Amino acid sequence: KSIRIFTPATVANLSCGFDVLGCCLDTVGDEMLISLTSEPGIRITKIEGADLPMETDKNVAGVAVQALLLDYKKDLGVTIEIYKKIKAGSGIGSSAASSAGAVWAVNHLLGNPYTPQELVKFAMEGEKLASGNAHADNVAPALLGGFTLVRSYNPLDVIKLHSPKDLVMTVIHPQIEVKTSDSRSVIKHNVSLQQAIHQWGNVGGLVAGLFTEDYNLIGRSLEDVIIEPLRSILIPEFKNVKNAAIEKGALGCGISGSGPSIFALSKGLKIATDVAEAIRVVYAKTGLEFDIHISQIN
Ligand code: HSE
Repeated sequence: KSIRIFTPATVANLSCGFDVLGCCLDTVGDEMLISLTSEPGIRITKIEGADLPMETDKNVAGVAVQALLLDYKKDLGVTIEIYKKIKAGSGIGSSAASSAGAVWAVNHLLGNPYTPQELVKFAMEGEKLASGNAHADNVAPALLGGFTLVRSYNPLDVIKLHSPKDLVMTVIHPQIEVKTSDSRSVIKHNVSLQQAIHQWGNVGGLVAGLFTEDYNLIGRSLEDVIIEPLRSILIPEFKNVKNAAIEKGALGCGISGSGPSIFALSKGLKIATDVAEAIRVVYAKTGLEFDIHISQIN
Protein backbone atom coordinates (compact mmCIF):
# COMPACT_ATOMS: atom_id res chain seq x y z
CA LYS A 1 0.00 0.00 0.00
CA SER A 2 1.31 3.43 -0.97
CA ILE A 3 0.17 7.01 -0.96
CA ARG A 4 1.58 10.05 -2.74
CA ILE A 5 0.90 13.27 -0.84
CA PHE A 6 1.30 17.02 -1.06
CA THR A 7 2.57 18.27 2.30
CA PRO A 8 2.22 22.00 2.89
CA ALA A 9 4.48 24.85 3.89
CA THR A 10 3.38 26.74 6.99
CA VAL A 11 3.88 30.15 8.54
CA ALA A 12 4.59 29.94 12.27
CA ASN A 13 4.33 32.60 14.99
CA LEU A 14 2.14 35.03 12.98
CA SER A 15 3.90 37.93 14.73
CA CYS A 16 2.37 37.82 18.20
CA GLY A 17 2.19 34.04 18.76
CA PHE A 18 5.77 32.83 19.11
CA ASP A 19 5.73 29.01 19.26
CA VAL A 20 1.93 28.89 19.53
CA LEU A 21 0.27 30.26 16.38
CA GLY A 22 0.66 29.06 12.80
CA CYS A 23 -1.17 28.64 9.52
CA CYS A 24 -1.06 26.38 6.51
CA LEU A 25 -0.40 27.49 2.91
CA ASP A 26 -2.16 25.75 0.05
CA THR A 27 0.13 26.48 -2.89
CA VAL A 28 3.60 25.81 -1.49
CA GLY A 29 4.78 22.41 -0.28
CA ASP A 30 6.67 19.17 -0.85
CA GLU A 31 5.61 15.82 -2.21
CA MET A 32 6.20 12.48 -0.55
CA LEU A 33 5.56 8.86 -1.49
CA ILE A 34 5.02 6.67 1.54
CA SER A 35 4.55 2.89 1.39
CA LEU A 36 3.89 0.12 3.87
CA THR A 37 6.14 -2.86 3.16
CA SER A 38 6.34 -6.42 4.44
CA GLU A 39 9.95 -5.98 5.56
CA PRO A 40 9.91 -4.34 9.04
CA GLY A 41 11.84 -1.10 9.61
CA ILE A 42 11.71 2.48 8.35
CA ARG A 43 13.75 3.29 5.28
CA ILE A 44 14.27 6.60 3.48
CA THR A 45 14.67 5.34 -0.07
CA LYS A 46 14.83 8.58 -2.06
CA ILE A 47 15.33 12.29 -1.50
CA GLU A 48 15.14 14.77 -4.36
CA GLY A 49 15.54 18.54 -4.24
CA ALA A 50 17.65 18.76 -1.07
CA ASP A 51 20.77 17.35 0.47
CA LEU A 52 19.30 15.67 3.55
CA PRO A 53 20.34 12.60 5.56
CA MET A 54 19.05 9.24 4.32
CA GLU A 55 19.63 7.57 7.74
CA THR A 56 16.27 7.11 9.41
CA ASP A 57 17.32 8.42 12.80
CA LYS A 58 18.94 11.53 11.31
CA ASN A 59 16.01 12.38 9.03
CA VAL A 60 13.07 14.36 10.44
CA ALA A 61 10.49 12.24 8.56
CA GLY A 62 12.26 9.09 9.75
CA VAL A 63 12.20 10.02 13.45
CA ALA A 64 8.60 11.23 13.27
CA VAL A 65 7.46 7.88 11.82
CA GLN A 66 9.65 6.08 14.38
CA ALA A 67 7.76 7.90 17.16
CA LEU A 68 4.42 6.90 15.67
CA LEU A 69 5.37 3.23 15.24
CA LEU A 70 6.80 3.09 18.76
CA ASP A 71 3.40 4.14 20.07
CA TYR A 72 1.49 1.89 17.64
CA LYS A 73 3.49 -1.09 18.91
CA LYS A 74 3.55 -3.11 15.70
CA ASP A 75 6.64 -4.12 13.79
CA LEU A 76 5.76 -2.53 10.46
CA GLY A 77 7.79 -1.68 7.39
CA VAL A 78 7.67 1.83 5.92
CA THR A 79 9.53 3.34 2.99
CA ILE A 80 9.68 7.09 2.48
CA GLU A 81 10.46 9.05 -0.68
CA ILE A 82 10.81 12.81 -0.26
CA TYR A 83 10.56 15.35 -3.07
CA LYS A 84 11.57 18.65 -1.45
CA LYS A 85 10.38 21.94 -2.88
CA ILE A 86 10.61 23.91 0.37
CA LYS A 87 14.21 24.82 1.11
CA ALA A 88 15.70 24.05 4.52
CA GLY A 89 16.19 27.17 6.64
CA SER A 90 13.58 29.11 4.69
CA GLY A 91 11.24 29.87 7.59
CA ILE A 92 8.18 28.29 6.00
CA GLY A 93 8.28 24.98 7.81
CA SER A 94 10.49 22.79 5.64
CA SER A 95 11.23 20.22 8.36
CA ALA A 96 7.62 20.36 9.56
CA ALA A 97 6.33 19.52 6.07
CA SER A 98 8.47 16.35 6.02
CA SER A 99 7.63 15.29 9.59
CA ALA A 100 3.93 16.07 9.40
CA GLY A 101 3.54 14.62 5.89
CA ALA A 102 5.22 11.36 6.85
CA VAL A 103 3.10 10.71 9.95
CA TRP A 104 -0.09 11.81 8.20
CA ALA A 105 0.56 9.37 5.34
CA VAL A 106 1.48 6.41 7.58
CA ASN A 107 -1.60 7.06 9.72
CA HIS A 108 -3.75 7.11 6.57
CA LEU A 109 -2.25 3.83 5.32
CA LEU A 110 -2.96 2.25 8.72
CA GLY A 111 -6.65 3.24 8.53
CA ASN A 112 -6.38 6.40 10.68
CA PRO A 113 -5.82 5.00 14.18
CA TYR A 114 -4.77 8.51 15.32
CA THR A 115 -6.57 11.86 15.08
CA PRO A 116 -4.66 14.75 13.45
CA GLN A 117 -4.26 16.24 16.94
CA GLU A 118 -2.63 13.03 18.15
CA LEU A 119 -0.24 13.04 15.20
CA VAL A 120 1.17 16.42 16.27
CA LYS A 121 3.28 14.92 19.08
CA PHE A 122 4.90 12.41 16.68
CA ALA A 123 5.68 15.11 14.11
CA MET A 124 7.18 17.26 16.89
CA GLU A 125 9.97 14.68 17.21
CA GLY A 126 11.08 15.73 13.73
CA GLU A 127 11.14 19.38 14.82
CA LYS A 128 13.21 18.43 17.85
CA LEU A 129 15.77 16.78 15.61
CA ALA A 130 15.82 19.72 13.16
CA SER A 131 16.14 22.61 15.60
CA GLY A 132 16.79 21.14 19.04
CA ASN A 133 13.35 22.28 20.14
CA ALA A 134 10.09 20.37 19.75
CA HIS A 135 7.93 23.33 18.76
CA ALA A 136 4.53 22.51 17.24
CA ASP A 137 3.53 25.74 15.55
CA ASN A 138 4.48 24.48 12.06
CA VAL A 139 3.49 20.80 12.36
CA ALA A 140 0.10 21.62 13.91
CA PRO A 141 -1.18 23.71 10.97
CA ALA A 142 0.42 21.28 8.50
CA LEU A 143 -1.63 18.45 10.05
CA LEU A 144 -4.86 20.26 10.95
CA GLY A 145 -4.95 22.85 8.16
CA GLY A 146 -5.93 26.53 8.42
CA PHE A 147 -4.90 28.45 11.52
CA THR A 148 -3.92 26.62 14.70
CA LEU A 149 -3.08 27.52 18.29
CA VAL A 150 -0.92 25.48 20.63
CA ARG A 151 -2.78 26.38 23.82
CA SER A 152 -0.40 24.30 25.92
CA TYR A 153 2.71 22.19 25.37
CA ASN A 154 2.45 20.27 28.63
CA PRO A 155 0.03 18.65 28.30
CA LEU A 156 -0.13 19.15 24.54
CA ASP A 157 -3.37 20.93 23.59
CA VAL A 158 -3.72 22.01 19.96
CA ILE A 159 -6.75 23.99 18.82
CA LYS A 160 -7.90 24.53 15.23
CA LEU A 161 -9.01 28.12 14.71
CA HIS A 162 -11.33 29.61 12.11
CA SER A 163 -9.96 30.79 8.73
CA PRO A 164 -11.70 33.90 7.35
CA LYS A 165 -12.26 33.22 3.66
CA ASP A 166 -10.79 36.45 2.30
CA LEU A 167 -7.40 36.23 4.01
CA VAL A 168 -4.56 35.83 1.55
CA MET A 169 -0.91 35.28 2.43
CA THR A 170 2.03 36.77 0.54
CA VAL A 171 5.39 35.25 1.46
CA ILE A 172 8.79 36.39 0.26
CA HIS A 173 11.58 33.90 0.65
CA PRO A 174 15.07 35.37 0.24
CA GLN A 175 17.43 32.58 -0.83
CA ILE A 176 19.60 32.71 2.24
CA GLU A 177 19.54 30.10 4.96
CA VAL A 178 18.77 31.07 8.54
CA LYS A 179 18.91 28.06 10.84
CA THR A 180 16.07 27.94 13.35
CA SER A 181 18.60 27.08 16.07
CA ASP A 182 20.64 30.25 15.26
CA SER A 183 17.55 32.38 15.05
CA ARG A 184 16.40 31.06 18.43
CA SER A 185 19.74 31.91 19.98
CA VAL A 186 19.24 35.68 19.47
CA ILE A 187 16.04 35.69 21.52
CA LYS A 188 16.04 36.81 25.15
CA HIS A 189 14.67 34.25 27.57
CA ASN A 190 13.02 36.75 29.86
CA VAL A 191 10.31 39.23 28.96
CA SER A 192 8.99 42.11 31.02
CA LEU A 193 5.44 42.06 32.35
CA GLN A 194 4.70 45.09 30.17
CA GLN A 195 5.84 43.23 27.02
CA ALA A 196 3.88 40.14 28.04
CA ILE A 197 0.69 42.17 28.52
CA HIS A 198 1.13 43.74 25.09
CA GLN A 199 1.77 40.38 23.44
CA TRP A 200 -1.03 38.32 24.99
CA GLY A 201 -3.46 41.12 24.25
CA ASN A 202 -2.49 40.73 20.60
CA VAL A 203 -2.78 36.91 20.66
CA GLY A 204 -6.29 37.20 22.08
CA GLY A 205 -7.13 39.90 19.54
CA LEU A 206 -5.87 37.84 16.62
CA VAL A 207 -7.82 34.74 17.67
CA ALA A 208 -10.97 36.83 18.22
CA GLY A 209 -10.44 38.52 14.85
CA LEU A 210 -10.12 35.18 13.05
CA PHE A 211 -13.33 33.82 14.57
CA THR A 212 -15.38 36.97 13.98
CA GLU A 213 -13.79 37.62 10.56
CA ASP A 214 -12.91 41.11 11.77
CA TYR A 215 -10.10 41.99 9.35
CA ASN A 216 -9.36 45.27 11.06
CA LEU A 217 -8.87 43.53 14.42
CA ILE A 218 -6.67 40.91 12.74
CA GLY A 219 -4.52 43.74 11.36
CA ARG A 220 -4.24 45.54 14.72
CA SER A 221 -3.21 42.30 16.41
CA LEU A 222 -0.45 41.30 13.95
CA GLU A 223 2.25 42.90 16.07
CA ASP A 224 5.24 41.39 17.87
CA VAL A 225 6.96 43.44 20.55
CA ILE A 226 9.17 40.62 21.84
CA ILE A 227 10.82 38.54 19.10
CA GLU A 228 10.68 40.63 15.91
CA PRO A 229 12.86 43.50 17.17
CA LEU A 230 15.66 40.99 17.91
CA ARG A 231 15.32 38.66 14.96
CA SER A 232 14.64 41.18 12.22
CA ILE A 233 18.32 42.21 12.18
CA LEU A 234 19.06 38.79 10.60
CA ILE A 235 16.74 39.52 7.69
CA PRO A 236 17.85 41.76 4.82
CA GLU A 237 15.44 44.62 4.06
CA PHE A 238 12.95 43.55 6.72
CA LYS A 239 11.84 47.10 7.61
CA ASN A 240 11.55 48.18 3.98
CA VAL A 241 9.52 45.10 3.06
CA LYS A 242 7.21 45.66 6.01
CA ASN A 243 6.72 49.35 5.18
CA ALA A 244 6.02 48.52 1.52
CA ALA A 245 3.50 45.81 2.44
CA ILE A 246 1.61 48.00 4.90
CA GLU A 247 1.61 50.90 2.43
CA LYS A 248 -0.06 48.65 -0.17
CA GLY A 249 -2.79 47.77 2.33
CA ALA A 250 -1.60 44.54 3.96
CA LEU A 251 -3.30 43.92 7.31
CA GLY A 252 0.04 42.98 8.84
CA CYS A 253 3.54 41.85 8.01
CA GLY A 254 6.14 39.98 10.03
CA ILE A 255 8.83 37.31 10.11
CA SER A 256 7.63 33.91 8.93
CA GLY A 257 8.65 31.41 11.61
CA SER A 258 12.31 31.90 12.38
CA GLY A 259 12.97 33.68 9.04
CA PRO A 260 14.38 34.68 6.64
CA SER A 261 10.97 34.48 4.92
CA ILE A 262 8.65 37.41 5.55
CA PHE A 263 4.86 37.09 5.44
CA ALA A 264 2.13 39.63 4.82
CA LEU A 265 -1.56 38.92 5.36
CA SER A 266 -4.05 40.81 3.24
CA LYS A 267 -7.77 40.92 2.70
CA GLY A 268 -8.37 39.67 -0.83
CA LEU A 269 -6.20 38.55 -3.72
CA LYS A 270 -5.90 42.01 -5.28
CA ILE A 271 -4.16 43.54 -2.26
CA ALA A 272 -2.02 40.39 -1.74
CA THR A 273 -0.86 40.68 -5.36
CA ASP A 274 -0.08 44.41 -5.01
CA VAL A 275 1.87 43.60 -1.84
CA ALA A 276 3.82 40.92 -3.71
CA GLU A 277 4.73 43.44 -6.41
CA ALA A 278 5.79 46.11 -3.91
CA ILE A 279 8.06 43.76 -1.98
CA ARG A 280 9.48 42.39 -5.23
CA VAL A 281 10.61 45.93 -6.05
CA VAL A 282 12.25 46.29 -2.61
CA TYR A 283 14.08 42.99 -2.93
CA ALA A 284 15.11 43.40 -6.55
CA LYS A 285 17.50 46.15 -5.40
CA THR A 286 19.37 43.80 -3.03
CA GLY A 287 20.79 41.53 -5.73
CA LEU A 288 19.68 38.57 -3.60
CA GLU A 289 17.69 35.78 -5.18
CA PHE A 290 14.19 35.34 -3.82
CA ASP A 291 10.82 33.66 -4.43
CA ILE A 292 7.43 35.16 -3.75
CA HIS A 293 4.38 32.99 -3.08
CA ILE A 294 0.74 34.00 -2.81
CA SER A 295 -1.47 31.52 -1.05
CA GLN A 296 -4.89 31.02 0.41
CA ILE A 297 -4.94 29.60 3.93
CA ASN A 298 -6.47 26.15 3.93
N1 HSE B 1 8.27 29.10 16.53
C1 HSE B 1 9.44 28.67 15.88
C2 HSE B 1 10.48 29.77 15.96
C3 HSE B 1 9.12 28.39 14.44
O1 HSE B 1 10.12 30.92 15.73
O2 HSE B 1 11.63 29.51 16.28
C4 HSE B 1 10.28 27.91 13.63
O3 HSE B 1 9.86 27.76 12.29
